[in-house]
Amino acid sequence: MLTSFFNRRSTGGASSSASNDDHDVEDILALIKAEHRHSMTLLPLLLKQADEIEQAGEVDYELIHELLAFFSGPMNKAHHAKEDQVYGWMRKNVPSQAAGLHDVEDIHKAFTLQLSQLRQQVEAILLDQDVPRDRVAAALKDFAEREINHIRAEEAGFLPMADLLMPMDVRRDMSRKHHH
Ligand SMILES: [Fe+2]
Ligand SMILES: [Fe+2]
Repeated sequence: MLTSFFNRRSTGGASSSASNDDHDVEDILALIKAEHRHSMTLLPLLLKQADEIEQAGEVDYELIHELLAFFSGPMNKAHHAKEDQVYGWMRKNVPSQAAGLHDVEDIHKAFTLQLSQLRQQVEAILLDQDVPRDRVAAALKDFAEREINHIRAEEAGFLPMADLLMPMDVRRDMSRKHHH
């Protein structure tokens, strides 16, 4: 369910122009922004589950597991790979404007580590192992809040800058690379 967003694009619809997702699949920046919008609809679900754990309410660990699979799979791999490629282009071609963006790849690496720890904890719970639930709730919140802040920062800083500075033919070439 959660990966269908990515699969739909990679399997290619009948039309390459305006899709149901209302974004241009031929522009890497449009793809990145669409993935941000999709993530922003899923992250509140993770925060809600963390609240349920804290309040000893109805917790759906399968849903948590599926959400984490999405964020550590397509989001953490394909999405960050696209962004790292855009950063790389900016660093090479417009280094003065890219100067403030050097921490982004490190942030991506930190997400990888945090997500693998979080998934291990949730998998242990699904296997009925004894895992302190309050620590899992805190870790889920920490991840979701950091991801939200990261996406907001990219939408406010690096993406508008890339929008301005990257020629459309470069954006289309990069988009094609990620589709084939
Ligand atoms: Fe990012
Ligand atoms: Fe991003």
